[in-house]
Amino acid sequence: MTETTAGTKIAPNRLLALWSSVIGKKVVMAATGAVLILYVLLHMVGNLKIFSGPVEINAYSHFLREVGWPELGYGQLLWIVRSVLFLCVILHITAALQLTSINRQARPVGYGVKKNVETTWGALTMRWGGVLLAIFIVFHLFHLTAGMVGFQPGQFEHLMVYQNVVAAFSLWPVAVFYLIAMCALCLHLDHGIWSGLQTLGCVNIDNTKSLRTVSRIIALIIFAGFISVPISVLAGWVR
Ligand code: HEM
Repeated sequence: MTETTAGTKIAPNRLLALWSSVIGKKVVMAATGAVLILYVLLHMVGNLKIFSGPVEINAYSHFLREVGWPELGYGQLLWIVRSVLFLCVILHITAALQLTSINRQARPVGYGVKKNVETTWGALTMRWGGVLLAIFIVFHLFHLTAGMVGFQPGQFEHLMVYQNVVAAFSLWPVAVFYLIAMCALCLHLDHGIWSGLQTLGCVNIDNTKSLRTVSRIIALIIFAGFISVPISVLAGWVR
């Protein structure tokens, strides 16, 4: 930061200025959230290929690594996507932590008035649901991407998604953990999509109700799509 003679502080560049402001952090949260929602939606649709059988979903896993060929090498596009996702997750979490700390500093002692129940519930689910989701994502990568946890030695086979998913969810505690995490994801999306739309200035008096419903429907569709997989394995429909 440089200081002018008038005492006002100017950030070295516009991006930094944006990041330094509360609204800038909210915009970063909304933009990175939008990228993450798009990924989650595509991932959910990809997972549904499991209902077409092992050949389809395993071929899809190969496709994800071969896409971009011959311009790009094996798995290169996947690594680009992974890097963008990683950057978005880091920015999303950092902005969330900084906004929470700014909020606390602005209001170290709670107001004497009764808090808005919806706002409190939303903030609580976003904060703790977000923590659960972060734990879930780390576990999930070690589990179904790397096969380092949740499998017997030699049971996980790289690119054999169908067999790996069936083996994974045949253990009910693992399936239950995924179901709980998907509830957290649903609540996070329900509130997050709505907040993002507000930050980006899409909400006005006329469309408040319909955009609230749209956020809820998107969250429920993603929830239903994801939970259908562990539930189908537990029920023996996918085996
Ligand atoms: C029941 C829910 C889910 C199931 C059954 C599932 C299944 C899978 C499977 C089988 C893979 C490995 C794919 C492969 O190696 O080709 C995978 C990877 C991954 N999943 Fe999920 N997933 C679920 C939920 C989620 C959620 C909610 C997120 C994000 C919030 C997520 C993020 C990821 C990521 C980042 C990868 C790594 C992709 C890569 O770079 O290879 N998954 N998932």
